[in-house]
Amino acid sequence: MAEGKFDNPVVAALTGFYDRFRKQEMAARFKASDNFDGKTILITGATSGLGFALATETAKRGGKVIMGCRGKIPEAGNKVREISGNDNVEMMYLDLTRISSIHDFTDTLQQNNIILDVTILNAASAASRARKTESGLDELFLVNYFANFMLVNLLIKKGIIKGNGATQPRIIFITSDTHRGCSAIDYDEFGRYFDYGVSKAISNYSYFKLVLNTFATELSGRLNKERVTVQVNAICPGPVNTNIIREIPFLARIALRAIFAMIFKTPRKAAQPIIYMACSDDFNDRTNEYMHMFISKKMDEKVYDAAEGLKLWQESEKLWKQVDEKAVMIELN
Ligand SMILES: NC(=O)c1ccc[n+]([C@@H]2O[C@H](COP(=O)([O-])OP(=O)(O)OC[C@H]3O[C@@H](n4cnc5c(N)ncnc54)[C@H](OP(=O)(O)O)[C@@H]3O)[C@@H](O)[C@H]2O)c1
Repeated sequence: MAEGKFDNPVVAALTGFYDRFRKQEMAARFKASDNFDGKTILITGATSGLGFALATETAKRGGKVIMGCRGKIPEAGNKVREISGNDNVEMMYLDLTRISSIHDFTDTLQQNNIILDVTILNAASAASRARKTESGLDELFLVNYFANFMLVNLLIKKGIIKGNGATQPRIIFITSDTHRGCSAIDYDEFGRYFDYGVSKAISNYSYFKLVLNTFATELSGRLNKERVTVQVNAICPGPVNTNIIREIPFLARIALRAIFAMIFKTPRKAAQPIIYMACSDDFNDRTNEYMHMFISKKMDEKVYDAAEGLKLWQESEKLWKQVDEKAVMIELN
């Protein structure tokens, strides 16, 4: 059975507390002059928490921002424009639980000739139990891993993220350091819907981050055989005071809200290392990097297992073809 790092949210939060005090060795490298001038940035899940802060901070640094969201259109975009003073902010409908929405979203980007310089895959579900989506897949599996597999493949296939261009586009996966120590990928469970409750949901959250990081590593290898053409990196923001615990049972939620408010970082602060990774020249010609806040690290060693990356890709491809007649992967080579 797939096993995540924690099945108790309070224990997970207290681990985050310890992370808060680690030395942020790369913070000094992030310059006030680092910016997104002339760049187009997509951020998924940009209506709240970290995603909203990322949209605002990106707009403040001069980017054209596309917020891929399933709600709060246009309010969240208006707020980003107001806070950042940048009008170059667009909201586009994207519901990662609906495969048709992922197709519609990428079709619209293509029809509007949008080329993405930076793609930040931030959206995540913190569902507190199994929930079947319209494709029959489980919501946590879909939003936290599989939708990202489909979305990235479509963005590349449709030329919205273009390798071999004048500059290296950047793909950034927002992950969690709790992926470390999760079980290896369980292919009996992979894509299969079954009922589970809150403990397994919390455990799955970190487990799907391990799956996501394994995908990021495989994707990076595929896109960058001889040289870096598309940077594919991953980052954990550390503990952030957001609404991610909205579905946790009431009493635990009360305790967690207090812990979050007192000791977790604000979304704006937590966004800074991600903005650094998204715009600093320090990342030129670098791919498959991982940062935990402003600390450069290796991911769990399972993530770098080439056989595992290949298997994950193949199983994902097989599943996509089963659930979507419009499935199109970037070529295997
Ligand atoms: N908070 C932390 O301590 C922490 C720590 C490590 C990593 N992270 C990661 O940081 C990222 C952002 O999380 P957060 O803490 O900011 O949580 P959050 O406030 O709950 O934000 C999650 C975002 O994802 C969106 N989303 C959820 N399901 C979606 C769907 N089906 N389609 C499209 N968008 C969907 C949400 O939109 P709606 O508003 O429509 O639901 C929301 O905008 C996640 O990847 C999370 O795993 C967070």
